[in-house]
Amino acid sequence: MNTISPELINEIRSSVDIVDVISSYIELSPKGRNFFGVCPFHDDTHPSMSVSKEKQIYTCFSCHATGNVFKFLMDYENISFIEAVKKCADMANIKLDVKVNSFDNVNNKYKELYDIYDQSCKFYQNLINTKDGLEAKEYLHNRGIDENLIKEFKIGLSLKERDLLTKFLIKNKHSKEDIIKCGLILDNNYGVSDIYSNRIMFPLEDLTGKVVGFSGRIYNTIDNSKYINTKETEIFKKRELMYNYHRAKDDARTKGYVIVMEGFMDVIRAYSVGIKNCVATMGTAITSNHANILKRMAKNIYLCFDGDSAGLKATLSCIEELDKVGVIPQIIRLEDNLDPDEYIIKYGKDKFLEKIDNAMDIMDFKMAYLKQTKDITKIEDKTSYVEEVLKELSNFDNEIKKEITLKKLSFDSGLDIEFLKDELSKIAIKKEPKKEEEKKVEIRKTGLEKAEIYLLYYMLKNKDIIRMYEKKLGFMPDSEYRILAREITSYYKDNNSFELADFLTYLSSYPNILDTLSKVLSSNLKDEYKIDDIEGYIHKINNAILDDKIDKLKHKLDETTDVDKQAEILSQMRDLKNKKIES
Ligand code: CTP
Ligand code: MN
Repeated sequence: MNTISPELINEIRSSVDIVDVISSYIELSPKGRNFFGVCPFHDDTHPSMSVSKEKQIYTCFSCHATGNVFKFLMDYENISFIEAVKKCADMANIKLDVKVNSFDNVNNKYKELYDIYDQSCKFYQNLINTKDGLEAKEYLHNRGIDENLIKEFKIGLSLKERDLLTKFLIKNKHSKEDIIKCGLILDNNYGVSDIYSNRIMFPLEDLTGKVVGFSGRIYNTIDNSKYINTKETEIFKKRELMYNYHRAKDDARTKGYVIVMEGFMDVIRAYSVGIKNCVATMGTAITSNHANILKRMAKNIYLCFDGDSAGLKATLSCIEELDKVGVIPQIIRLEDNLDPDEYIIKYGKDKFLEKIDNAMDIMDFKMAYLKQTKDITKIEDKTSYVEEVLKELSNFDNEIKKEITLKKLSFDSGLDIEFLKDELSKIAIKKEPKKEEEKKVEIRKTGLEKAEIYLLYYMLKNKDIIRMYEKKLGFMPDSEYRILAREITSYYKDNNSFELADFLTYLSSYPNILDTLSKVLSSNLKDEYKIDDIEGYIHKINNAILDDKIDKLKHKLDETTDVDKQAEILSQMRDLKNKKIES
């Protein structure tokens, strides 16, 4: 396990500027004392994320995402805490002697599953390097996948015998149940046996690069299933997996674009010619999950699905899914039903890169698609073609693009451009007026809760207020605020200082407290405060605590018939009431 001292972690944190780091991922513009940008952690197009240079933290007022520079990197890049610290250390030229591995963040609950996949992967990798693997190697070499690629993508081999992996894993002290859970062995009337036999094994890695399953391909036999994928588990969800993400993300960021493909073979081929910013969706439709990951990978997204009709459909649905997260991709279409793998083999890297340079915008793609599915020499087809393009256009905001497209449509259809404009305006009128964006219903907070949140807000801001809280209250009625207040005061005592951004590092292993903190920080208060206001919050909280105590005494009073006891309780109640007036 890697250990870096908390002091060093704080030093690294304060050696980089969160504004510089975040602005290398998303656009930030200064406003007042803070910087604002579109929050990458929820679907949004408004600049709801504020980044504070002074506090070195970010806060989203909409989804409440909050953190310091480490948290931003972890969430944005799907990396572990250690990896984020290492990244910052590199930026700050601080030498950090830790080995970063993707198991740092493994949830203990799934450690066994990760272990099994990791060991199975190594097992299959060893087999492909034996003489039993010669034929598979030959197959791969013939496909242009050389030794380096085999190693890089951890490609392995399962042999014909159906008990090798099972035996190996059992010998390595894994339980039968766990191995079954991983989808690697089958348990039936005849006993247990390996699921994979005689297939080239492509490990499937999650976003952090850990193996979470396999796709096994036939290579010297004929079988109905070309690929067999491991079943979904708690750690492998097809809808979340993006093949090659962890290798592609840095390159995608520096180049400013990412290419989305259908199959992992396509990605490996592109990688083999040095195009490393490609990911694949494993042949499934793109999910909102994928869309959000892609959105964070790079500014420009190119869809390069197979050239066949399935690829065409996949492109359309992907455009739709990306649209929901506010991303407009560009489209690469490959001729002759080729997939990217075949295209690169046939025409080479440069021709493929040319394709990227000449990618279609989505309107051109849709027009081409509509034209392809219709015969516009026929009046019916032409009519519906014009109607559908106009309908698409009615969603456009950009007037220049509208005009350009109308010109093209006029050319395709032979209809006058003025006439088309007229038709378009009719559609626009018919369309329901855009619903006003539903205002989020803020649950009304009680005066007490507000006082707690506001007081906490200023405790985070100023050490004097932490001391004031300790002296005058030391308690909050709501447990979540009480816990946060307790963490703040004890952190302050332990460290003899209070740096919010470092406090966030400390809280990273307490997600619930972090949630409360996000709530407090996103209350968006002014940084300046009047001491009278602080006194007011304390007063309010104090009274609530006293009221609560008085209430409890009332119950006690109702329950007892003992006159002496009653007198005592009444006297206690009086004292509390007096305190209320005093405070
Ligand atoms: N796929 C799958 N199961 C199949 C076929 C395909 O899971 N029976 C998924 C695989 O993830 C594959 C992707 O869909 O990577 C694309 O499938 P396809 O285009 O058929 O495969 P290719 O990438 O062309 O693979 P190859 O070149 O090896 O035939
Ligand atoms: Mn192929």
